[in-house]
Amino acid sequence: MREYKIAAIPADGIGPEVIAAGLQALESLQQRSGDFKLNVKHFDWGSDYYKKTGRMMPEDGLEQLKPFDAIFFGAVGAPDIPDHITLWGLRLPICQGFDQYANVRPTRILPGISSPLAGVGPGDLDWVIVRENSEGEYAGQGGRTHRGLPEEVATEVSIFTRVGVTRIMRFAFKLAQSRPRKFLTVVTKSNAQRYGMVMWDEIAAEVAQEFPDVTWDRMLVDAMTVRMTLNPQSLDTIVATNLHADILSDLAGALAGSLGVAPTANIDPERRFPSMFEPIHGSAFDITGKGIANPVATFWTAAQMLDHLGEGAAATRLMRAVETVSAEGIMTPDVGGKATTQEVTDAVCEAIRISNI
Ligand code: IPM
Ligand code: MG
Repeated sequence: MREYKIAAIPADGIGPEVIAAGLQALESLQQRSGDFKLNVKHFDWGSDYYKKTGRMMPEDGLEQLKPFDAIFFGAVGAPDIPDHITLWGLRLPICQGFDQYANVRPTRILPGISSPLAGVGPGDLDWVIVRENSEGEYAGQGGRTHRGLPEEVATEVSIFTRVGVTRIMRFAFKLAQSRPRKFLTVVTKSNAQRYGMVMWDEIAAEVAQEFPDVTWDRMLVDAMTVRMTLNPQSLDTIVATNLHADILSDLAGALAGSLGVAPTANIDPERRFPSMFEPIHGSAFDITGKGIANPVATFWTAAQMLDHLGEGAAATRLMRAVETVSAEGIMTPDVGGKATTQEVTDAVCEAIRISNI
């Protein structure tokens, strides 16, 4: 029996609802397969913990997480705590502390879900966005002086390092190489940004030499939004800076029909530390506790987690089950269905139970 240690951090808003759904699906997969086991430990960190202790996680939080094979994360954000506190108190310290420098965001149109783009269906849009996750515009470098005065100054410095850019390019080329089309689009803004983005382009060209079987092209980020919208079939694997990919992945989610189904994996490709898997959608307080949160993004990120752990067969089985259920129209209201979180979850678990793959 292969065993893995999973740290579950459901955190805020709908996080606990979708993580519970995800764990239920993972339980069904373990029963169906019978040859692997997830030992899950729950952590009560997040905004409630912050209200009690003044911290989003304990001081030794990263130390506590280190022994785990993966982190299964819900969402952070609360209406009464500033977003930069919740984010920089929990999610970003984990990403940065564990050097999860590759953020992987697959987007596809699931059967039964319609894209806002006319005539675009499943198969026309099948992308993976690789987001640089450790530096760039989110490096956390900058400061404010003369606070509150008319002369106040704030800087938010983007950091691009040769090491950081090279490793994300290598990761992206390798991922592109593993997909049938072997095609990578490098997003840039080197027409306006002469230093960091020009180095980004140069390093992309250098790394491309290591992957002669991968075709690649380069797109300015503004033009990229047009190409994604008007010619989605022309894209496959995409690599972009932290902020560019943040924005493009929201667009990707919308074009695929809903951010409610979009997953993400924060990966340390060198496996020195646990990687972290989460739905993109965030805490969504407006629907918290109503039982209608879409669990599909969490199922999808659970599949990414299984893939990362080396349980590819279970990952495929989970995604097939999700697709079967969405094709049947068993969906939450955000994607036009009438089902509750629990109904979608039960249907996915049943599809796993009876799956023949
Ligand atoms: C995302 C989110 C976060 C980000 C927010 C919550 C800061 O939008 O994961 O895309 O910008 O990284
Ligand atoms: Mg975002």
